[in-house]
Amino acid sequence: MSHIAVVLAAGKGTRMKSDLPKVMHAVAGKPMLSWVLDAVLATGPARVVVVVGHGADQVIASLPDGVESCLQAEQHGTGHAVSVALDHLGDVGGEILVVPGDTPLIDTETLSRLLDAHRADGNATTILSATVTDPHGYGRIVRNEAGDVTGIVEQRDATDAIDAITEVNAGMYVFDSAELSEDIRNLETNNAQAEYYLTDVVAAVVARGHSAGATMADPVAVMGVNTHRQLAEAAALRRALINGELMDAGVHMQDPATVYIDAGVTVEAGASLLPNVMLTSGTIVRAGAVVGPDAYADDSVIETGAHVWYSVLRSAKVGSGAEVGPYASLRPDAVLEEGSKAGTFVEIKKSVIGPGAKVPHLSYIGDAAVGARSNIGAGTITVNYNGFEKFRTQIGEDVKVGSDTMLVAPVTVGDRAMTAAGSVITEDVEPDAIAFGRARQVNKPGLAARLRARYRGDSGQE
Ligand code: UD1
Ligand code: MG
Repeated sequence: MSHIAVVLAAGKGTRMKSDLPKVMHAVAGKPMLSWVLDAVLATGPARVVVVVGHGADQVIASLPDGVESCLQAEQHGTGHAVSVALDHLGDVGGEILVVPGDTPLIDTETLSRLLDAHRADGNATTILSATVTDPHGYGRIVRNEAGDVTGIVEQRDATDAIDAITEVNAGMYVFDSAELSEDIRNLETNNAQAEYYLTDVVAAVVARGHSAGATMADPVAVMGVNTHRQLAEAAALRRALINGELMDAGVHMQDPATVYIDAGVTVEAGASLLPNVMLTSGTIVRAGAVVGPDAYADDSVIETGAHVWYSVLRSAKVGSGAEVGPYASLRPDAVLEEGSKAGTFVEIKKSVIGPGAKVPHLSYIGDAAVGARSNIGAGTITVNYNGFEKFRTQIGEDVKVGSDTMLVAPVTVGDRAMTAAGSVITEDVEPDAIAFGRARQVNKPGLAARLRARYRGDSGQE
């Protein structure tokens, strides 16, 4: 029999002191709620309902296809949230798995174990719990002398004795839906927060003579995020999981503590990540590529054997064996083909740098195509924008663009052509030509000495 999952995501997250709904805060580049839903969906539920409220539109927009939502217009506590979900679901029967939306480290295996334990033990309610070193903020699992669960007491309602309990409520439960519907209706708000606590259902179940069970989880997996401190802790834990999995799969990391890899990034076995690397959504690093030290790549592809260091890549492609950096900025649609180079203080945007072509130093290449094996001299700029419109620069194969050339687009430089250093190229250059676009030099013999004499009254000697 399959279960129905209810995910609680309506709360404001007051302790985050943020306009962003709490469950939308990102861990490794993905909203906390999305991590939770991934784990929940993989348990194979018949239906998934997310209770939304604070920032509902934003939360709903993040939901994957097939996940339902229901609105808890005013947030009167987790018990109230579940009652809203039950009204939405109707008379469904069976098991209800409840999961909070602020536990971004939860995994499918842990939830499946909770479901299995519930089925095996035949309790009316099964809680997921964990023993933690610092239980502050969590609800405590209260047991009688026989060790049976009798209820959950929230931090703010805890006596000193209860405060000392280190077994905490993960906020995840499996309920029998018929029992739950009844107990939810009877919840009261006589507690420190004047809210309907879902946790009170446990004591109610026990009071009616049913048994409640608690199954232990790894404290890391069930960590709840209520503050920015906890968000950073959760992000660090998730990062360690991501890096650990990649290293197990054959990715080399010299110092994983300084490697930040978001969800939706692929790093192939045999790739090497050096210190201070941040890879965000959509980025692919192929086997044999070396990234770092100091590299940021968003939505970019780094092919086999490429080397990227001290550089920023956004929606860029770095071909196999290509070299980027130190200090290069590749902006959207920068494509470096095989064996090409974008060197020191080079910015490239919406341009293709052909196979083996090189832009080694101090250049801006935008809206351009550079043909195979061409070399762009230091300080070259594609003047692509006249303040109103952008134009393209076309550079052929085996071209040598002299240092400090201004290529005033639209302009074409033919195959094997050259431009003289310091040229302002405003007209097309035919193949095999050399273009000079600069003033001819004039030397005035002795003029420097005469100038010095005039200003210093001396012979011109230093
Ligand atoms: C809750 C539990 C606590 C447990 C902890 C685990 C209760 C009363 N307490 O406390 O025992 O140790 O989770 O992390 O359940 N939400 C709604 N509607 C509301 C209130 C909350 O949808 O009216 C959602 C929140 O968006 C959040 C989740 O429920 O995703 C949990 O709420 P939160 O306020 O974080 O509860 P905790 O204080 O963490
Ligand atoms: Mg919480």
